Amino acid sequence: MDSVPLYLQPGRIGSLEIPNRIARGATSETMASPSGVVYDAFVELYRRLGEGGAGLLLSGHLYVDPRGQASANQTGIHDDKVIPGLRQATEAVHEAGGRIFAQIGHCGSQTMMSRITPVAPSPVPNAMYTIQPEELSSDEVRDLVRAFGDAAGRAAEAGFDGIHIHGGNGYLISEFCSPHANTRDDEWGGDSERRSRFMVEVYEAVRAAVGADFPVTARLSVEDSVEGGLQREESLQRARVLADRGINGFETTYGVMRSYFENIRPYVAVGRAQAWRNLLVQRVRQPAGAEAYYRPFARAVKDATGLPIILVGGVRTTQMMTDILDSGDADFLAMARPFIREPDLVRKLEAGRTGGVECVSCNMCLAHDGFDPLQCWRDNPRNVAVHIRKHYWTNRRKGQ
Ligand SMILES: Cc1cc2nc3c(=O)[nH]c(=O)nc-3n(C[C@H](O)[C@H](O)[C@H](O)COP(=O)(O)O)c2cc1C
Ligand code: SF4
Repeated sequence: MDSVPLYLQPGRIGSLEIPNRIARGATSETMASPSGVVYDAFVELYRRLGEGGAGLLLSGHLYVDPRGQASANQTGIHDDKVIPGLRQATEAVHEAGGRIFAQIGHCGSQTMMSRITPVAPSPVPNAMYTIQPEELSSDEVRDLVRAFGDAAGRAAEAGFDGIHIHGGNGYLISEFCSPHANTRDDEWGGDSERRSRFMVEVYEAVRAAVGADFPVTARLSVEDSVEGGLQREESLQRARVLADRGINGFETTYGVMRSYFENIRPYVAVGRAQAWRNLLVQRVRQPAGAEAYYRPFARAVKDATGLPIILVGGVRTTQMMTDILDSGDADFLAMARPFIREPDLVRKLEAGRTGGVECVSCNMCLAHDGFDPLQCWRDNPRNVAVHIRKHYWTNRRKGQ
């Protein structure tokens, strides 16, 4: 076993044995109908990822309620009609020997859907889009807790191997957890404990729907990047409460942010040679981004809870993967953009490849999120040309 690199050795999340420590990080697919039912392309994407060998796949965020839809063509889990399509995708993953968790979420006020009046804990303009949301009533909050539970039940019925609750990156759960976005003074806000209540009740509803043995993890906001936002001590206390109640693991991230670029950072670990090969003129003018940028968050949550921790955010080299696992800062390494470019990345690592990934974190794929089906836009000249034609409009609509 010693000759097998740590990142290719098995691990465990709750009751689930996972064949290696590499996860495909949640990446929204933009491969569903306007009412959230997946197209064949979604099934094929997950078949390819399943064949690619990642120990665990995390789906893109699936909205639990129609008003929780972040973008057109996002996948839904809000209605029983989505189940058959999702079941085809989980079957494709299982046939290929993979495992997949459903990431379930609600966008809160962080939506690109102009037909939706967004909802949030408080009428605080969204930090990224500046949209003014409607404040949820207490009864509506309870309805949403139920919606998360119902969504988890559908995910289990569709054959997912676990649930990954989206509690990060400025979406609804992270808004409830944030003193910046949640200015209520009732049972859902006012102090740290009441700001935790929505996430804890969502977890309880999910657990009740799927049963005690089903793996349930969460993407957890450890800090907000905005002034007056969530601080680390508060989120660590929240993590301890969820751990006491039986959650099986966490993935660490930012909560409320002013830009997606704070979470999806450009040019991670891209040296000058790789920059020139990929014609990254902008990278040559600015330094490479640091690798594994949420590592201190992962260590802090690991120390606070002792649970399996998934580290996402700029994991790019086999040297760094080994170092992180060896240090115990995290137990699993999730990569999002590298799997867009190389769905078979883990098969290549199994064949002995070492060093960095091909993805250069240029974020062209992010510019198309919500507008075009997920793909790497830098892997051939035709895609680059189409990207250049489209990108002005998409970036402008996403406020980037
Ligand atoms: C196109 C795109 C879509 C994403 N969609 C999601 C999502 O649905 N849910 C989520 O939690 N994070 C999403 N992310 C963020 C990634 O999971 C991850 O946190 C981020 O890209 C940093 O990791 P990386 O450096 O490995 O890409 C998305 C990122 C990209 C580029
Ligand atoms: S477009 Fe391709 S190279 Fe650029 S960040 Fe996305 S996956 Fe990586």
